[in-house]
Order: sequence, then structure tokens, then C-alpha cells
Amino acid sequence: MTEDQKQSRRNFIATSVSLLAGSFFVHPVAEALSLWSEKTEKMKIALVGTGIRGCGMFGRDVKRVYDDLVEFVGLSDINEGRLAYAKEFIGVDCPTFLDADQMIAEAKPDLLIVTTMDSTHHEYIIKGLNAGMNVISEKPMTTDEAKCQAILDAERASGKRLIVTFNYRYSPHRQKLFELLRDGSIGDLTSVDFHWYLDVYHGADYFRRWHRKKEFGGTLLVHKSTHHFDLLNWWIDSDPEEVFAYGKLEFYGKNGPFRGTTCRGCEFKEKCNFHWDITRNEHLVNLYVKNESYDGYHRDGCVFREDIDIYDKMAVQIKYKNEVQVSYSLTTYSPYEGYRIAFNGTKGRLEAWIKERQPWEEPSQDDIYLTTNFGERKKIVIPHGGGGHGGGDTRLKDKLFKDPNMADPYRQSAGSRDGAMSILVGIAARNSIESGRPVRVQDLTDIPLEESGRGQG
Ligand SMILES: NC(=O)c1ccc[n+]([C@@H]2O[C@H](COP(=O)([O-])OP(=O)(O)OC[C@H]3O[C@@H](n4cnc5c(N)ncnc54)[C@H](O)[C@@H]3O)[C@@H](O)[C@H]2O)c1
Repeated sequence: MTEDQKQSRRNFIATSVSLLAGSFFVHPVAEALSLWSEKTEKMKIALVGTGIRGCGMFGRDVKRVYDDLVEFVGLSDINEGRLAYAKEFIGVDCPTFLDADQMIAEAKPDLLIVTTMDSTHHEYIIKGLNAGMNVISEKPMTTDEAKCQAILDAERASGKRLIVTFNYRYSPHRQKLFELLRDGSIGDLTSVDFHWYLDVYHGADYFRRWHRKKEFGGTLLVHKSTHHFDLLNWWIDSDPEEVFAYGKLEFYGKNGPFRGTTCRGCEFKEKCNFHWDITRNEHLVNLYVKNESYDGYHRDGCVFREDIDIYDKMAVQIKYKNEVQVSYSLTTYSPYEGYRIAFNGTKGRLEAWIKERQPWEEPSQDDIYLTTNFGERKKIVIPHGGGGHGGGDTRLKDKLFKDPNMADPYRQSAGSRDGAMSILVGIAARNSIESGRPVRVQDLTDIPLEESGRGQG
């Protein structure tokens, strides 16, 4: 590490500590959002993509909790049946549209929420921005570098804001890690070991749905790892510079011992460990099964279908602008779900083994260990927050809909730059797997990479 890099890292820690201790950071996204918080009437929102996320997190939950602050003025989806069910499920009486262009033109929302399939996010984000509205998009912001650049160009030209909903940043133990990284206990951060395990239930579910195809979700390196890469970018507070990766499909898809089309009616259901009966869940039946006739989409697809073309094991090396090195992996057929993370510094190590789900015991707390070189080991216990994604979903929505000017000392609200930088790691990893070569993030879009202290959305 050069003296300049050391100095820059020290400055980063010093700035961050004062930031946590005193003056609260005002996020540019919060400034943009305050445009509508000053209005006396309700914020008009429209939503495109009325699947499970749109109906729940951004539909019924928003209507129930923030009804005095927001008004739904339109819902849109290409599946007519799902759209009709969503309207009833969310509990609104606004118009519905099969054509999102028509919704944007007629409903004229202040805010457009995009919760469609990943590969289509860019279409609606760009349409919303071009029509002069702020946009919230679910992660991943999009699935390839060309679409990413098009979104960035549209946002710049529109003068409006795009917010990407990274709920993972809001969970209490990840926030604690952010804080501990900035208090100097482990000295200068030099490397990170980050290994994520999806279990045979949740992991397998990606191989049942549209996510199983690169063209729809950009592989799990984009669809899923965008969360993890965003956490890394946020914790490390530097931009990823170069990425090298391996990935392979060797468990699901064509590797299976037998296969059907869907779990319903499958001739192997008695002997398949992955057999899953969607008809036992009324909400899923109403959302998907009853609406198959409109688009032919089967939510309970066989995990061994031969058209699956994403990787089920992935290993990624990332070098950051500030010289921090990361070893990351994603495994999709683990007996339990969670992750191991360790931050290695010049004075010690910060580590955690977070168990999100395991068959032998329901975890009720997260333990973080701080060990200093030639020193002591300290255990920090974080009780689990209630609600979706460790309480992250609620905190994220409070910030979006209740109090956009809420102080953001941990920089948890994310804008298009954060959305872009997280998917660019996954896109670079995918490109690296396909080319067998390292990929420079700078070659993917025109975003100038920064060493540290970005502090912006
Ligand atoms: N942040 C999180 O933790 C989290 C969790 C779940 C899902 N998500 C994201 O939410 C989004 C939706 O995921 P989901 O699980 O609800 O999937 P889903 O399949 O239930 O819903 C997707 C919806 O998009 C619709 N759609 C597909 N193509 C479209 C198009 N061209 N135009 C309009 N609508 C279209 C489908 O008909 C469907 O109703 C995804 O981007 C996903 O990554 C985020």
C-alpha cells in the first residue's frame, strides 16, 4: 500500500467517524425525495410489475402502512389475470393498465415503482424518467452494461432521480459492521472474505422461476449477488476496479438424474427431494397458477430443466480502487442458508457467520467477533430485527414514504450510482467467466471510478 493510499484510508475512517458521531449526512436522494414530502397532497404512485414483490412489499404493505401519505393512481403488468388479482390483493381502486406507456401518460404519477422481471427494468425506468417522474426500481437496477449506461444517460438528461431499493443495507448487523469498520478497531482494511450459501430450498427456487435464464435475470451474479456486491461497495467505501471469476452449472439443470416440466403432475415427485407443491399456497395459486393461460409462465418449474443456463456455483475475485481485495463465492445448494464474512485489517479482524436459516435451530441473534492482533476477542450480539430481510424492508420503506428527510448516518439509501456499481461487479464477473479473462469495471460504463469517500447515491 502506498503512503497516499494509507492516507486516503485514514481520511476515510476519520471522516466516517465524525460523520457517525456528529453531523448527519444528507443524502442527495433524500433531497430529491423532499420535493414531494413538501407537498400537502398525497404522493401519487404507480406501480409496474404486479408479481409477488410488487403486490406485497410495494403494494399491500405500502397501502396499509402509508395510506395517509400516498395514493395509488395506477397498476400495470403484462399479465391481465395477475393484474386483476393484484388490484384486489393490494386493496386499491385505481385504474389498471396492460400498457405501462398508457399508465404513465394518463395516471401521471409523481413516482413510478418498477417491480417487473429484471431484464425489463430499464424500459420502465427510462420511460418514467423521460416522462419527468422520479423512479424507484427494485434491484438489480438492470442486467447488462448497455442497459445500465442507457439508464444513467436517461437519469442525467431528465433531472429526475432513480432510487434502487437495497434493503440489505438496513439490517441491524450489517449496519453494525459498517459502523465497526469505521471506528478504526481493525486498522486499515486490506481484504474481505465473503461467502454466501443459499440452501436447497431458497437456492433451488431460483432454478424454478424466470431467474433460471441468463436473458431474464442476468445470472445470479447479477440477480442475487447485486445485494452482496452493494454491501461490499458500501462497507469498503471504494469502487470495484477489476474482477475475475469462475462459474459453473453442475448441480441443477441438465445435471439432474431425471426431469419433468413442472412439479405439478411430475412422474418423479415421490423420489425427487426438490418436489414442491405450489397448490398448498393460496396466494401463489392466485398470483401464478390461475394466470398461466395469459403468458404460459409456470412458477413451479422443474429445477432440472435442460434450458437452465445460469451458474449454480460462482467464485469471484475483486480488486477495489483503494487496493482492498475481496474473495467472494455463491453456492446455491447448501444444507443451510447464510453467509460467512471476515474483514481483515492491519490491526485485527472483524468476522461473522450469519445463519439466516438452518434445519437444526432457528437463529435468534447474529454474532459479530472483533479480534485484535496480539489482543483480545470481543463478541458483539445483535438480536434479530422483525420483518422482511431482518427488518430492512420496513426501515427502507419508512425512509422512502414516511420521512424522506430522515437522517441517513449510515448512508443506507441508494441511488443509481450504487445500483450501477453493484450490478457492474456481477456483469464483470459474468463477462469474465465467459471470456476467461479479468474485466475492468471502468470499461463497462462511463462512470468515473473513485478510490474512497464517495458518500453519494
Ligand atoms: N429486494 C429484494 O429482496 C427482492 C425480493 C424479491 C424480488 N425482488 C425483485 O423484484 C422484482 C420482481 O420480482 P418478483 O419476485 O415479484 O417476480 P414475479 O415473477 O413474481 O413478478 C414479476 C412481474 O413482472 C411482470 N412482467 C414480466 N415482464 C414484464 C414486462 N415486460 N412488462 C411488465 N411486466 C412484466 C410479470 O408478469 C410479473 O407479474 C425483480 O426485479 C426482483 O429482483 C427483490
